Amino acid sequence: MAINKHILLAVSGGIAAYKSAELVRLLRKNGAEVRVVMTQAATQFVSTLTFQALSGHAVHTDLLNAEAEHAMDHISLARWADALLIAPASANTIAKCSQGLADDLLSTLYLAATCPVYVAPAMNQAMWHHSATQENIAKLKTHGVIVIGPEPGEQACGETGLGRMSEPAAICEQISASTSPQPLQGVSVLISAGPTREPLDPVRYITNRSSGKMGYALANAALQAGANVTLISGPVSLPAPAGVDLVKVDTAAQMYQAIISRAEAHAIYIGTAAVADYTPIEVQPEKIKKHDHETSILLKKTEDILAAVAKLPQRPFTVGFAAETENLAANAVGKLTNKNLDMIAANWVGHNAQNGGFDSEVNALQLFWKNGQKNLALADKRLLAKQLIDVIAERFNEKNTT
Ligand code: PMT
Repeated sequence: MAINKHILLAVSGGIAAYKSAELVRLLRKNGAEVRVVMTQAATQFVSTLTFQALSGHAVHTDLLNAEAEHAMDHISLARWADALLIAPASANTIAKCSQGLADDLLSTLYLAATCPVYVAPAMNQAMWHHSATQENIAKLKTHGVIVIGPEPGEQACGETGLGRMSEPAAICEQISASTSPQPLQGVSVLISAGPTREPLDPVRYITNRSSGKMGYALANAALQAGANVTLISGPVSLPAPAGVDLVKVDTAAQMYQAIISRAEAHAIYIGTAAVADYTPIEVQPEKIKKHDHETSILLKKTEDILAAVAKLPQRPFTVGFAAETENLAANAVGKLTNKNLDMIAANWVGHNAQNGGFDSEVNALQLFWKNGQKNLALADKRLLAKQLIDVIAERFNEKNTT
């Protein structure tokens, strides 16, 4: 791990501030130069002297500093930083940053910084789950902030749940990964995500359990890898990562049009969407009435988008997914061959999924390509997406140089 960067560590008030002392040590050990900013609340938990000793520099706590050049630490610190890391980020700090308030050095720095910003939240689990905090986090993500954690476990307040600050080693790893060379720099990547909705009448539709989490995590990972990303999304309730070109669709037919019309202009296509295989032959113009007798719906096949992309004359590097409840490897390899794909990522869904698959925060993948395969163990979908993008980049770059 090498982090040869200027890291500006902003420590806000919370018991996890003690972990940030270790974070400074680890960042420096991995080559980073670190300057530390603390809120007044943070200084109640750990002294400025601790951070001064560990970083080798005076700690900044005040917005207006008569001893600083122009009395404006926030501008010179923001210019100096290659990355701003807010760890721990308290609920209050997250709320202030999401609203653009600037009433202390940390929140002012957040507005002044033009470098990548990382936020490692730490708070009581109920505070983390509160809709106000979740809305604020979603807002930060739309600013392009990379949120690291929080992690589940026992909390200092005695409760158990999501809210612990990620371990310093994990934070360093994430910063190292996103500041290291970008394997898809300038490559255009088209990704499909989420479910489709096939209408039966004006009020009903056929859909599936896809939440879009896997596809959105891939879009984010591809962005972090330097790609220009177009995301074709079925109906989901996730915010799109800042910087992606988002195209929203509802039905399999709309998704087909949106993807086929763009695929040849992209170098890579990743089909993560759970596209309906069948759609009602007829959409009733009025709400279908209830009767005493049984009824049935006639369905017709939809176009297979993935297979159609792979058949295009100027086809992109084409990666499919396989969602299986049985014979995972055999079914996935069948799809790889029959649809003529460059790679397939297979995952269990349903009863065999072991917490992964549809609508879960975690997943595991088995990757297959001609003459190769790799297993990616159960992990948070964000981490898994990064690992998958790394493998795709490797295979794509190899194909393009042979
Ligand atoms: O969205 P999440 O809740 O995070 O869940 C993630 C996921 C389980 C949806 C995802 O990891 C996944 O497996 N996506 C593929 C789902 C799927 O439709 O699998 P399939 O085996 O039925 O289809 C195989 C491939 O063909 C897929 O790449 C699919 O996008 C594609 N396909 C299928 C039908 C169709 N008409 N057109 C297609 O392009």
